[in-house]
Amino acid sequence: MSIQKRKETIMKIETQCVHTGGFEDTLTGGINTPIFTSSVYRYLETDIRIYPRYFNTPNQNAVVRKLCALEGAQDGVLFSSGMAAITTVLMALLSSGDHAIIQDDIYGGTHAFITGHFSRYGIEYTLVPNNAEEVDSAIQPSTKLIFIESPTNPLLKIMDIRGVAAVARKRGIFTVIDNTFASPVNQNPLALGIDIVVHSGTKYLGGHSDLCCGAVLSSGALIEGIRKMAQNLGGSLNALTCSLLERSLKTLSVRVERQTENAKGIARFLSSHPRVKSVNYPGLESHPQYEIARSQMRGFGAMLSFELDPVFLNSRQFLKKLMLITPAVSLGGVETIICEPATTSHQKVSAEVRRRMGISDNLLRLSVGIEHADDLIEDLVQAMD
Ligand SMILES: Cc1ncc(COP(=O)(O)O)c(C=O)c1O
Repeated sequence: MSIQKRKETIMKIETQCVHTGGFEDTLTGGINTPIFTSSVYRYLETDIRIYPRYFNTPNQNAVVRKLCALEGAQDGVLFSSGMAAITTVLMALLSSGDHAIIQDDIYGGTHAFITGHFSRYGIEYTLVPNNAEEVDSAIQPSTKLIFIESPTNPLLKIMDIRGVAAVARKRGIFTVIDNTFASPVNQNPLALGIDIVVHSGTKYLGGHSDLCCGAVLSSGALIEGIRKMAQNLGGSLNALTCSLLERSLKTLSVRVERQTENAKGIARFLSSHPRVKSVNYPGLESHPQYEIARSQMRGFGAMLSFELDPVFLNSRQFLKKLMLITPAVSLGGVETIICEPATTSHQKVSAEVRRRMGISDNLLRLSVGIEHADDLIEDLVQAMD
């Protein structure tokens, strides 16, 4: 292990965000990674063939090294979206005749890809609730992969990550987790025994609602196979977006810590308000998996959902009255945004399945930003009154 690598692994996450990865600009001495716009590179002087779709340009490498430090990974691949990252991992690891276990309340896009397309490739799957014992009992001789998400979208359910990793390891099954909601600041699944972490970098990693990207982080051996599939599928990230992402990652820990602190305060406020029927936030002691969340997360994250009491007001009326918090889709940015999952992220899920999942038409999902919590709470209060 090189001295730099050793230093990176012992640094605290705040320092890793600022100082790991990057590109040493020996030409000018500038302390930021230059933007390398070339998509074409000379090859006679080197054995390495550099090309954006080979996932090895200087700007891609600069970000991957930072993300590896943040997630405790050996290697990684950057993609043009979270879905490009997720689909590439699934296509790299699964073949016709394989069986996969999929947590049932994962992100709608991942759910739609699996339920809509796996059968075309001869891949079988079982959907399971967020419970490690249910995962264990769904294992078949042909099970090759387990895909989980924790906390989940939009109900903030928690999966016992160590439990899932343990049942999979015993049987040599790959485990993949979507760590988008927690971010590496609040949760490091590789350290809990998971094989592969995926992110929609469009959310917390980017953090300013101005880019779209994805990432996969894992061991060197697994990334080698995933990179080969990625080169075929081609969802690579351009240098300009890599540069924006690298800059964003320098402030990841301060942003997410502030967002998490704000979310905790708002969750407490909402859970004591008479016009709120229920609040889903893993940092509330009333959350059914609070103890599991505490054992596997550094912080409880900045996403929460809540249901208004329909006797007083419906969600659409409430959204129209908000003055600071913006009704918008996506999540993880510095500004607080809110959406109704029934008409946005879960619009494609039938009303009956939504009801079964516990997603009511009045449920609201809040992505808490870095504003002052008092201003956010004041906005919620005036809209509820
Ligand atoms: C948890 C989660 N995973 C994956 C994705 C897909 O990411 P992208 O939109 O960057 O493709 C999303 C998008 O909302 C998400 O919320």
